[in-house]
Formats: sequence, C-alpha cells, structure tokens
Amino acid sequence: SLRQSFSTIDVDVASNGVAVLTIDRPQALNALNSKVMSEIVSACLYLDRNHATAKVIIITGSGDKAFAAGADIKELASVSYADAYHGSMLNGWETLRSVRKPLIAAVNGYALGGGCELAMMCDIILASERAQFGQPEITLGVIPGMGGTQRLPRAVGRSRAMELILTGDFIKAEEAVRIGLASRAVPHDQLMEEAHKVAAKIATHSVPAVAKAKECVAVSQEVSLGEGLRFEKREFWSCFALEDQKEGMAAFVQKRPPVWSHK
Ligand code: CAA
Repeated sequence: SLRQSFSTIDVDVASNGVAVLTIDRPQALNALNSKVMSEIVSACLYLDRNHATAKVIIITGSGDKAFAAGADIKELASVSYADAYHGSMLNGWETLRSVRKPLIAAVNGYALGGGCELAMMCDIILASERAQFGQPEITLGVIPGMGGTQRLPRAVGRSRAMELILTGDFIKAEEAVRIGLASRAVPHDQLMEEAHKVAAKIATHSVPAVAKAKECVAVSQEVSLGEGLRFEKREFWSCFALEDQKEGMAAFVQKRPPVWSHK
C-alpha cells in the first residue's frame, strides 16, 4: 500500500478525498532530512496524479511539539559548498510547486526554518494555538534556503519579514494570524478536525475549478498585476470548456446540488 512505501512520513487517504501526510520523526521534532523531502514530494506527486484518490492534501507533524523544527541540522552540519552546489541541496522541494491540488499545512507546534518554509509552500496555513513560527537560520550562521526570504515578505510584508529573518525570533500562532502568515489559529485539540473540515469542503468542489483557482492565486505571488489579470482571464474563460461549468450552473438554475464529473 501507499503507506508502506514510506518510512519518515505516514500517508492516509480518506474516501472523501482528503489525504493527510504526517511527518513522522517526533524524536527529532520532525526535522526535514533528505529522506523526508523525497517522501513528501513523491507522496504529493502521486496523490496529485491520482484523481480518484485525493482531492486535497493536509500536511502535519506527528507528536505534540512540532510541525517541523527545520531542515535536519545534523545532516547539514558537515555539508561543503561543493556538496551543496553540485547536489542542488534542498532543490527537491521546488517540485511541490507543480502540485495542483490544494495543500493545507496543519501546524501543530514548532514551524521553524525549513518547517516554516514548508508551511509557506502550502496554500493554507492553519495553526494550533501551540504553534510557533520562525526563521532561526541566522543563529546557525546561514540564511533560509527553502524559500523563506522570498515567501515570508510576500506573506507578511518586507519589514516584518526582515525582523523575523534577521533576529531569528519566534512568533506565536496568534501573531502569525495577525500578520497574515497563518489563516486561522484554533485550539490545539481541534486542529486536525478544523483542517479536515476545510479540506472536506474544498473536496466537494470541482477538481479542475479548484486547481485553476489555486494556480491563479499562486501566479499572483510572482507576476505583475496586468500579467496576473490576463492569466486569470484566460483561466476563467477556459472554465467554460469544462463539463463542470455546465453542471455547476445548470444545478444552480435547477435548484439542486451539482454532480461533478471533475472534467
Ligand atoms: N535538526 C535536527 N535535529 C533537531 C532539529 C533540527 N532542525 N530540531 C530539533 N532537533 C532535535 C534535537 O537535536 C533533539 O535531539 P536529541 O534528543 O538527539 O538531542 C530533539 O530534536 C529535541 O529537541 P530539543 O531538545 O532541542 O527540544 P527543545 O524543546 O529544548 O527545543 C527547539 C525545541 C527550540 C525547536 C529546538 O529544538 C531548536 O531550536 N531546533 C532547531 C530550530 C532551527 O534552528 N531550525 C532551522 C534549521 S536550518 C534550516 O531549516 C535551513 C533552511 O532554511 C532549509
């Protein structure tokens, strides 16, 4: 089964199309070593390609303490510049950008360094009241290397991102919500229930419409307004080639729930 093919993550796919990937190295606070990277990336690509199995993917951490406390410092400690450069260290995470299905980060504790960056690769961040976010790389004599210097300023603005990245300070869930890093904070014991609720709701919608909406919002983070508006318009127009558009609008007019073919 899918589950047995991984050793550092646990994968569960429910019949409603909600998949949960749990990073399972609680003894190392779910630090992201290269095996975790390759397993998360392969699991997401697999689930993304299998229409029938998953419609939304939740990523969370096992145990009570951490979502992920960063890249694995013990693995990185002895890396040389040549290893980092020739091995394209941490580039594997870039592949997650090709995932069309929504990714929800259910942040159950520390999301530090690469853990915060992984959460920011997701489309929605839900935080437990126990969550803490930060980019402490500077305290280790390095800088963020999984997108932190690019995604954090886009999420929270330049000044706040600078302060976090240059001080290495952690912020709590409530502040992460206030500055727009996380979408919501919820009581710790309700985190997964809330994540499932959001995911299950998204999973009731048309798969291609959800993918188009996600892609348009993702594009807004990298291009000018004019280019983004043209991109959105083309994606909007192309919705009218979907069976799901015909069905969704017919169902509204006929006052009945839509039955998506996801085509
Ligand atoms: N890598 C490897 N191991 C880690 C780890 C990490 N990022 N974070 C925690 N661990 C390990 C600890 O070494 C410890 O292992 P041992 O029991 O074998 O000693 C175990 O997890 C438990 O951690 P602590 O004893 O430190 O737990 P704590 O409650 O005292 O502190 C913490 C928690 C504040 C999160 C602390 O563990 C910490 O500061 N972790 C490192 C956070 C960090 O600097 N992350 C950035 C990593 S670099 C990076 O991510 C680069 C990038 O941009 C991609």
